[in-house]
Amino acid sequence: MKKSVRKAIIAGNWKMNKTRPEAKELLEAIKPLVANADGKVEVIACVPFTNLETAVAATAGSNVKVGAENVHFEKSGAFTGEISADMLVEVGVEYVVIGHSERRQYFGETDETVNKRTKAALAAGLKPIVCVGELLWERECDITEEVIARQIKLDLFDVSAEDVKKTVIAYEPVWAIGTGKTATADQAEEVCAFIRATLAKIYDEETAQAVTIQYGGSMNAKNCAELLSKENVDGGLIGGASLKAADFNTIVQAAVEG
Ligand code: 13P
Repeated sequence: MKKSVRKAIIAGNWKMNKTRPEAKELLEAIKPLVANADGKVEVIACVPFTNLETAVAATAGSNVKVGAENVHFEKSGAFTGEISADMLVEVGVEYVVIGHSERRQYFGETDETVNKRTKAALAAGLKPIVCVGELLWERECDITEEVIARQIKLDLFDVSAEDVKKTVIAYEPVWAIGTGKTATADQAEEVCAFIRATLAKIYDEETAQAVTIQYGGSMNAKNCAELLSKENVDGGLIGGASLKAADFNTIVQAAVEG
């Protein structure tokens, strides 16, 4: 299967930014710019929980999909401050970011909880965007592949082939997030290809070829075209640049170009 057969996905991860009026304004600006991507590139805005309802309303009837930035793994109960997959589905959310490095670094997220959240999301009908990536120290010690293989195996433990095809993998080298340091296109391609090879070992080649693998980490209007031209880089998970409509659109258009 060729890259052109996989779904290209550009997702903004807004992180802890934007009030509801600001969210509406940004989405209203993004919608007309990216309308031509319909049917070619999936465009998603992953927004804070408080913005979800606003985002779903603002994007209704457009080709912009809405994602959440986290989800809890239990269905309901005494989990103060948490949000369940069913709650997200009820609001109209389609995607959810799981295991972002900021959650792993600051909020005690582990591969075990990433695995539980991924399975809970899939069971509820959400499409997970599962984030993996090595620390700078791990890259310097030349164990990037071991780290990534471990994360992929643990995060997707017990996820069926059918479900993994609904899952997006985001390769986000931790040293490239919010630092302005981007992985070179060759570095991104190398690890995204390794992720696909790891999926082929766990599942099979056909399944691995069907999974969308994104790159994330200081992707911007300037470097996106080269990164997205790579065979195994099927899209991007965009932080800072997703908060500016024009920059986000430039990245979407680069993905449309392939
Ligand atoms: P930046 O694009 O701001 O580096 O963030 C990347 C990221 O963490 C997306 O999830």
